[in-house]
Amino acid sequence: MKRTQVAIVGAGPAGLLLGQLLHKEGIDTLILERRSADHVAGRIRAGVLEQGTVDVLERAGVASRLHAEGLIHDGVEIGFRGRRHRIDLKALTGKSVTVYGQTEVTRDLMNARAASGAPSVYEAEDVALHELGESSARVTYWHQGVAHEVACDFIAGCDGFHGVSRRSIPTSALKIFERVYPFGWLGVLADVPPPWKELIYANSERGFALASMRSPTRVRCYLQCSLEDRVENWTDEQFWDEFRRRIGEELAAVVPTAPSIEKSIAPLRSFVAEPLRFGRLFLAGDAAHIVPPTGAKGLNLAVSDVLYLYEALSGHYREKTASSLDAYSPRCLRRIWRAERFSWWMTRQLHRFTDDAFGTHMQQTELEYLFESQAAQTSMAENYVGLPFSGYGEKW
Ligand code: APR
Ligand code: PHB
Repeated sequence: MKRTQVAIVGAGPAGLLLGQLLHKEGIDTLILERRSADHVAGRIRAGVLEQGTVDVLERAGVASRLHAEGLIHDGVEIGFRGRRHRIDLKALTGKSVTVYGQTEVTRDLMNARAASGAPSVYEAEDVALHELGESSARVTYWHQGVAHEVACDFIAGCDGFHGVSRRSIPTSALKIFERVYPFGWLGVLADVPPPWKELIYANSERGFALASMRSPTRVRCYLQCSLEDRVENWTDEQFWDEFRRRIGEELAAVVPTAPSIEKSIAPLRSFVAEPLRFGRLFLAGDAAHIVPPTGAKGLNLAVSDVLYLYEALSGHYREKTASSLDAYSPRCLRRIWRAERFSWWMTRQLHRFTDDAFGTHMQQTELEYLFESQAAQTSMAENYVGLPFSGYGEKW
């Protein structure tokens, strides 16, 4: 029977970042990941970082490549009725965002974990959690055909939406809130220089489109598609033709037809599980909540959970009290619901909903109001750049 202080299930950005912050604090951790390291490092995900997220990655000592290669954006654009409207994030909030792929963040964290010498087990099968309500918890798993058992003070469930951690909590102890949207996002990654300087979120009669990027030589673009759609139905030519129709005439002329190096469809969902704690188990990241990608909040919300969990656990070991542990879930939920609201609002404002004429009129009127009202733009901007973290120890 092995022993550690905190067993972390999942080596996505949440699990790896928690491992890094706790390791720097001298707290023992063991990371258990179901997939191989290559698989985890190869996942294609979004890439807009709030300033708060950059600060936490800096604190974890994994921000040097981010600073060297990340692209600072002081604004974002909204396309509507063929025109583009710039939201000046910097002028409205004093803050910017950094475009740096989640794949790169994960790689930086994996390198830091390897360099720290702290233990990680990839391809850990059948991870199971035990005795969550007792004086000490236990995790069992199989690795290369051998059964293993770990005793630990706490378990951090950082194993995403489909992980074992949330499923280990009795349904009677959880409240679930969910909204599934009647469309998905067809995404393409292509190695061409982006003809756009900042991200463009386009609301068009034909549906939503997003012009994003990963670097000065790589674009990431998305189209709203039906949930019945299949990647095989879309050639690269068809993707770029449809993208030109939605992104606005001015830009359509310079959109290249580039071969895709990755193409996939993702459903859109809003999901929250409350509370984020069950005895000695603490959920963080996608294990507890999902946001539609329209607000670029997925990774940023996982990072704020991890900051709060790191502070709760290190506070517990430092102060030998339970108060910081008790504050974790309510502290997270306050920020989670604000990010859920903003992501739902962006999704509602920018996508085409076919069966709601009144809703569509509201959507268009709210966009017109957004473009003419500095107050409305400030509200959007402060949510997009990221609402402030709450202070450690603030009463909840
Ligand atoms: N046992 C061990 N590991 C598991 C298990 C399991 N039963 N189930 C899942 N995992 C692993 C997955 O293979 C994955 O590597 O947990 C990890 C969870 O990582 P993510 O899904 O990336 O979740 P998280 O770290 O919370 O990051 C959230 O990812 O999906 C994006 O938009 C989301 O940006 C957000 C970020
Ligand atoms: C991305 O670059 O993949 C991206 C950017 C912003 C979003 C969603 C995805 O809102």
